[in-house]
Amino acid sequence: MSKIYHNKLVNAREMVKAAHEGKYAIGHFNINNLEWAKAILEAAQESNTPTIIATSEGAIKYMGGLKTIVGMVNGLLDDLNITVPVALHLDHGQSLEMAKKCIEAGYSSVMFDGSHLPYEENIAKVKELMDFANEHEVSVEAEIGSIGGEEDGVVGEGELGDPNQAAEMSTTGISMLAAGIGNIHGKYPEWWKTLSFETLQDLQAACNMPMVLHGGSGIPQDQVKKAIELGISKINVNTELQLAFRDATRTYVEAKKDLDDEAKGFDPRKLLAPGFKALKNTFVELTQMFGCYGKAK
Ligand code: 13P
Repeated sequence: MSKIYHNKLVNAREMVKAAHEGKYAIGHFNINNLEWAKAILEAAQESNTPTIIATSEGAIKYMGGLKTIVGMVNGLLDDLNITVPVALHLDHGQSLEMAKKCIEAGYSSVMFDGSHLPYEENIAKVKELMDFANEHEVSVEAEIGSIGGEEDGVVGEGELGDPNQAAEMSTTGISMLAAGIGNIHGKYPEWWKTLSFETLQDLQAACNMPMVLHGGSGIPQDQVKKAIELGISKINVNTELQLAFRDATRTYVEAKKDLDDEAKGFDPRKLLAPGFKALKNTFVELTQMFGCYGKAK
């Protein structure tokens, strides 16, 4: 066994296991740049909250590549003296090659999203990944059914998960299982009413393991709580942080503060500051809702 990741990172296995037993959910937050990574790490440390920092394949390309991301996150863990448990996770890895590359680069957790493949192929690839992941003490997330909508080019029809598949997936050694339960990436459309709690209940009965709710932005609080009660132990959030950042930045710009040359309102450290603060506040609000706030030992 040889860990490749930074000694301040942890894999997500224990975090989601404790959440599953304690009936709360760990927040998974997608990052886009330095501001996102720093805001989440600072907020996690200040609130003593275990957390998962995630990058989609699109965000990896956007930021330059794996070396940049791992270097940035590891650097922040040291420079900000982060002591709470943090996992660095690949979100919706589309191939085994990508998952392995992330592990080799220093990620502590990976998702292999084979939901676009025939199920037999999906589970065969998950099993194949497990050897490599176990060897390096990396946690793995798999997906059955699919998440509706689109995220960074990953498109899903929103098929509901199948309990037989959930049961089989739970025997592969994965740490957490994502499933289509009527959830959608991005903003929920007007017509959307509810998660399928019946599906979630059947899946949880079949797999009895930590499950992941993708599309965690904008789900009403009562539904989030009910989902956690029924076995959701990790909630993925991307859009909600982006909207919070957008709104705060818009307020700054609409007040024409960026045009105040005297005060150097154009300095990115000032221009991005309200958005940065909004990211931290949103982290606090969401982790309180998920119940993981303050749960680091
Ligand atoms: P949202 O963008 O809807 O929050 O979804 C995030 C997500 O599920 C990442 O995998």
